[in-house]
Amino acid sequence: MEYVKSNLDLIGETPLLQIAEEYNHPGPLILAKLEYLNPGGSVKDRIAKFVIEKAMAEGKLKKGDTIIDNTSGNTGIGVAMVAAAYGLKTIFTTAAKTSQEKVDLLRALGAEVIITPTEAAWDDPRGCYQTALRLARENGYFHFNQYDNPDNPLAHYYTTGPEIWRQTDGKVTHLVAGIGTGGTLCGTARFLKEKNPKVQVIAVDPPGSLFADYIKTGQTGPTGTYFVEGIGSDMVTKALDPAVIDEVVTVSDENSFATARMLTKRHGILAGGSSGTAAYVAFRLAEKAPSNSVFVVIFPDAALRYLSKCFSDKWMIEHNFNLTETP
Ligand SMILES: Cc1ncc(COP(=O)(O)O)c(C=O)c1O
Repeated sequence: MEYVKSNLDLIGETPLLQIAEEYNHPGPLILAKLEYLNPGGSVKDRIAKFVIEKAMAEGKLKKGDTIIDNTSGNTGIGVAMVAAAYGLKTIFTTAAKTSQEKVDLLRALGAEVIITPTEAAWDDPRGCYQTALRLARENGYFHFNQYDNPDNPLAHYYTTGPEIWRQTDGKVTHLVAGIGTGGTLCGTARFLKEKNPKVQVIAVDPPGSLFADYIKTGQTGPTGTYFVEGIGSDMVTKALDPAVIDEVVTVSDENSFATARMLTKRHGILAGGSSGTAAYVAFRLAEKAPSNSVFVVIFPDAALRYLSKCFSDKWMIEHNFNLTETP
């Protein structure tokens, strides 16, 4: 018989899938790292397992304790899943824009969810960041702290990076990923650049996020709201390391959603919104890259998390998005 005893044994070792060969053949190979195949459905399962197991081993967290964090949904889902395995309780704050699917799943996993106003900035006491901080302080909860926790990028340095290096036989030339905390891209990039400093690392970011300006100039500019979930930020995070990023590209919601819808409808690949953002940039860069390039694009989560959002024609029309699948 072949089976595992715990969900947690299924985290990581996600496959690479070649996408859209017909667009660039015989051009660069474009490979999607299917993080939505993790048992909790996203890349965030990796940091949930790493951070919780490390904190338990260090005696900072024990059975019966409560973990709190703010989340765009996926970190919360991963943390709630791992917490269930270790008898821990969870509370999450999330912005009102977070899809109902993710909020429902958090609650189904036993988490308490506090919804905060989307427009509240990171330093606003009503917002998800400050609310989580305050509740952690007032109640002595374990603050998961995905934005500033060095163990977030470290989880990817130890897992995602080595997997990509091994799976591409060291031939990866470009890494493309969205940045929400920056943990996935920067931890993975650090490992790959140690192996081969020539690997090009490309961050993708929505308009209204401060990351793009910050990475390019070290300065932060004005911020605004956008619909794509999980990426972009209105505050600088410690999980982000601009030193390992070669290029940052801003992508409109329109192009992110059109690409995600195209991948799903034409190729049957269940790409979530931010997978669309990263794939959009990989397609554009691949047009100019040498034909022996190997692009690895992180697909953080699946379309299933956005059936009421960018995969709903009604929602798209209500929010003035074009229904085209050709970005
Ligand atoms: C859907 C989605 N895409 C991308 C990311 C970005 O990952 P990271 O926080 O590691 O930068 C997240 C993070 O929450 C996410 O939920």
